Amino acid sequence: MKIIHILFHFTVFSFTVSYASINDFCVADLKAPNTPSGYACKPLASVTSDDFSFHGLVAANTNNSFKIGVATATVTNFPALNGLGISALRIDLDQDGLAPMHTHPDATELLSVVKGEITAGFLTPTSFYSKVLKSGDVFVFPQGMLHFAVNSGKGKATAFGAFSSENPTTHILDVLLFGNKLPSGLVSQTTLLDLAQVKKLKAKFGGSR
Ligand SMILES: *[C@@H]1O[C@H](CO)[C@@H](O)[C@H](O)[C@H]1NC(C)=O
Repeated sequence: MKIIHILFHFTVFSFTVSYASINDFCVADLKAPNTPSGYACKPLASVTSDDFSFHGLVAANTNNSFKIGVATATVTNFPALNGLGISALRIDLDQDGLAPMHTHPDATELLSVVKGEITAGFLTPTSFYSKVLKSGDVFVFPQGMLHFAVNSGKGKATAFGAFSSENPTTHILDVLLFGNKLPSGLVSQTTLLDLAQVKKLKAKFGGSR
């Protein structure tokens, strides 16, 4: 199917000199609106080598409930990713730090551990899949699966990630459940969690009580 598609394009567009030059990439013009097919392209004449590198994938602040530092390179801070269906992540976990249960509804994620030990896994309606990872190990979280990563070693841990989307969405379970303005009674009723526990977590995640 893909071959036929490529052949079709080759046949139709091979005589169009400008086809390759306007389609090799499309560095986002972030001032233009984001659309379902991505951002408009920055004019080719103003694209430089600098557009294709990113300098911020460094250890981020871990002073938060989960003791995790997260740095991302997605289309909104690395416009060259526009239309390429890929983006990057770095997580730094303090001792006992973790990435809480969350999903990326629109992206598969690869996690490559470079320092320390991380236990990563994901849940399906019928099972779970989990591994203890060390430097050099890679784990894949299939698109949409509820997943986590916990520092299970001594000391700090670091991992780099890649997403199959240039602008992945993240839904953090605790933030969804307890960072909202639904009455605590309703959250308690719909989760079967004790009301006191819901109120405690709502205070922690900034939801209304
Ligand atoms: C961590 O954050 C808390 C509140 O956000 C703040 O009070 C505390 O000083 C911070 N600690 C460090 C080491 O930055």
